[in-house]
Amino acid sequence: MPQHVEEPPASPPSQQPPPAAVYDGAVLGVPATEARLPDDAALPSLPSRLQVEVTNRCHLGCESCARHHWEPAVNPVGDIGPATLDQLQPLLEAATEVTLGGYGDPTEAPDALVETVRRAKAAGSSVRLITGGAKLNAPLLDRLADAGLDRLVLSMDGATDATLRQLRGVSLRAYLGWIRAARALADARGGVRPLVQLNVVAQWANIAELPALVDLCADEGVAGLHVFHLKAYTPDTFDRCLLTEPEKARPYFVEARRRAMCRGVFLALPTLDPSVQVCTQPFEHLFVRHDGSVRGCCSGLFEPAVHGLLAGALPGTPAAARMPDGTPEELWRAPILQQYRAAARAGDDVRLPTPCRTCAFRLPTLAAHRRPLRVVS
Ligand SMILES: C[S@@+](CC[C@H](N)C(=O)[O-])C[C@H]1O[C@@H](n2cnc3c(N)ncnc32)[C@H](O)[C@@H]1O
Ligand code: SF4
Repeated sequence: MPQHVEEPPASPPSQQPPPAAVYDGAVLGVPATEARLPDDAALPSLPSRLQVEVTNRCHLGCESCARHHWEPAVNPVGDIGPATLDQLQPLLEAATEVTLGGYGDPTEAPDALVETVRRAKAAGSSVRLITGGAKLNAPLLDRLADAGLDRLVLSMDGATDATLRQLRGVSLRAYLGWIRAARALADARGGVRPLVQLNVVAQWANIAELPALVDLCADEGVAGLHVFHLKAYTPDTFDRCLLTEPEKARPYFVEARRRAMCRGVFLALPTLDPSVQVCTQPFEHLFVRHDGSVRGCCSGLFEPAVHGLLAGALPGTPAAARMPDGTPEELWRAPILQQYRAAARAGDDVRLPTPCRTCAFRLPTLAAHRRPLRVVS
């Protein structure tokens, strides 16, 4: 794999790229090309998309990760247990897409991860794993493929060994090993699964490598990449986000898009333009954390009053000892989610739940991507 980090490609100021894909979840990363905001009565009885946090443990030290700065008292670490797994069943059966990921790395709890994939697949969902590779290896990939994993999303914030080591503490060789092992498994099974994709957190430290990452995808049989803006959790990282100087970042986006089109690689870029976006997550998605607490979006990973929409807990789970519980149907209709839906339908920002008013999933602004958390020394 050639490792070339490039000078900013020439891009005349008048050359506007095609509109960037709108995305509706940094973790889910599913492009929402148009807003679909059904009435509550028209919503299905349970969501079509489910995210499950198998664990919030992780031993890696990715530079951008909020785990280094979160409030430990409200984020105790743990793995999903049998009670929460059992309570997931109706949600798994209703979902057409299940994503395994959260604030931790799912590979840190390999047995629970494989079991969750198996149950989701048996329930008929498409299953996707998002991982920074913490404990990923060929035997685990083999088990995941046997359990029915459809997509492996690797979080890969660079195309060179130096950048990957700096930003993720992982070598390029390790990433290439995972990609090639997954491709070999798909080949051996005579199909495309697990399909490999990348998640990329774009920032000044790696933006020059974005075109090379597109080439890497084409060279290595990776289907494509979702790019996200860095959310900065501490004041000393506030200037790392591309939204500090969007016009300086735009030529890299243009070049990456050109290569993606030439080489047949899927590329979803975040917007560089300041326009309010509709977040459709609370209309179609629930996020179940390892302890059985349920959020209406994947932004609700920290203190929910500040950063997300807490619906309650699944009955009999560890979280139910700390907060009101409800059936999956009741949680899906939780007052805070209904509040979001009503305000979003009406286009009334003032009536949105407090965390949504400044959320980076709605606001592609620098201010929304500066989200200071308590700094843990
Ligand atoms: C927090 S991670 C958890 C899942 C898994 N451990 C991983 O790294 O893929 C979920 C996604 O958020 C991305 N991410 C990490 N820090 C980020 C930040 N400061 N801003 C935006 N996305 C970030 C990760 O690269 C990953 O794709
Ligand atoms: S692998 Fe994921 S959870 Fe672990 S430190 Fe990196 S971004 Fe955070």
